[in-house]
Amino acid sequence: MKKRLCAILLAMAAAASLTACGGSGAAKGTSASEDAQVEDAAGADYELTDAAKNHASDGEEIIGISMPATNLERWNRDGEYLAKNFEEAGYTVNLKFADNTIDSQIEDVNELIDEGMDILVIATVNYTGLEDVLDRAESADIPIIAYDRIINSDAVGYYVSFDNYMVGALEGEYIRDTLDLDNAGGNTYNIEIVSGYSADKNADGYYHGAMDILQPYIDKGTLVVPSGQTGYAETETFQWKTEYANERMVNLLTNYYSDGTRLDAVLCANDSAAAGVAQAIEAAYKGDNIVLLTGQDGDEENLKNIMEDKQSMTVYKCLPHETEAMMDVTIAFMKGEEIGADLIEECGWDFDVVYADDRYSNGTDYMQSFLLTPLTITKENLEKELIDTGYYKYGDDGYPKAVSE
Ligand code: BGC
Repeated sequence: MKKRLCAILLAMAAAASLTACGGSGAAKGTSASEDAQVEDAAGADYELTDAAKNHASDGEEIIGISMPATNLERWNRDGEYLAKNFEEAGYTVNLKFADNTIDSQIEDVNELIDEGMDILVIATVNYTGLEDVLDRAESADIPIIAYDRIINSDAVGYYVSFDNYMVGALEGEYIRDTLDLDNAGGNTYNIEIVSGYSADKNADGYYHGAMDILQPYIDKGTLVVPSGQTGYAETETFQWKTEYANERMVNLLTNYYSDGTRLDAVLCANDSAAAGVAQAIEAAYKGDNIVLLTGQDGDEENLKNIMEDKQSMTVYKCLPHETEAMMDVTIAFMKGEEIGADLIEECGWDFDVVYADDRYSNGTDYMQSFLLTPLTITKENLEKELIDTGYYKYGDDGYPKAVSE
């Protein structure tokens, strides 16, 4: 669907000059031969395999990809698109999906190290938990690039994602503008807040991006939160799961709205949670108004809900673009090219990307980050932005389905 000239040229250059690839000088850490043993999470010595020790000199370029889960819709597509991108650019790919637990991801990453990957692309399950296994990768001179989610490890110097704060801001702005809060006069509106999973550091960006917009209206009394639950922790959705968001929303509706109190809006961090909120509103809300409901991702069920007025918007993060940027940064890194703001122009991306080295931290240092720009999708622009662009097509049931790359 998208042109990948930059990546293909880089891959050709990489193939022509194997010395520039893998084990590039940019990797941090000691060399594999110097430090063949590190301690695993349990504190036991965990020797590197020969494949791990020799990955840079074995003549193969293998990209190890670790995705967090298959039960949250987007990661299936991320995995598929990334694998396809790298394979089309001439690389071998080893793709693993964890089961949304950090332990399963530690296992996956250990296997990728043992299987001799030259670079690791990781969308982590949790912000913390991978520190030890990534130290092990570092000891084998395997560089790591964080994909979409921030990782707490000083072994991670690079990050490709969407601007997490902006995602939240778009959700907050949607509610502010749709309720026309600046011209509310004496009107007040009731809102509830459904945040993401706090073990995922991105969720913090979403929360603050949205609350920086909405909090002033809560302080003024234009927005009222009948449950009183506005804090990040008390509004969290464990593991981003639909059923937890559903359960909490049913409880809120039962405890604070069953007397006929009107609910005007739910600030909801993402689509998997919004699906649970929409189900709760359908089952347990007594009012007959359309409740504004935000989300993020463009999951298929949520796009259907948008078409049926059960969700108002989703913040679309174009995965073909995010995976293309990830591939280009990874390949440039493997070629030993300098990673910095100039890469944006060199890669000729036809989508907006901002380079930042002072925004997203790995817990110790700021990562060099490439941040894409998200887009608000509503019933009004869904067809133009998602169907006409070819990212989705209508299925036999008349609802949008994501198109495989
Ligand atoms: C991603 C979101 C996604 C959420 C749950 C976040 O880290 O950035 O796009 O909705 O995880 O999968």
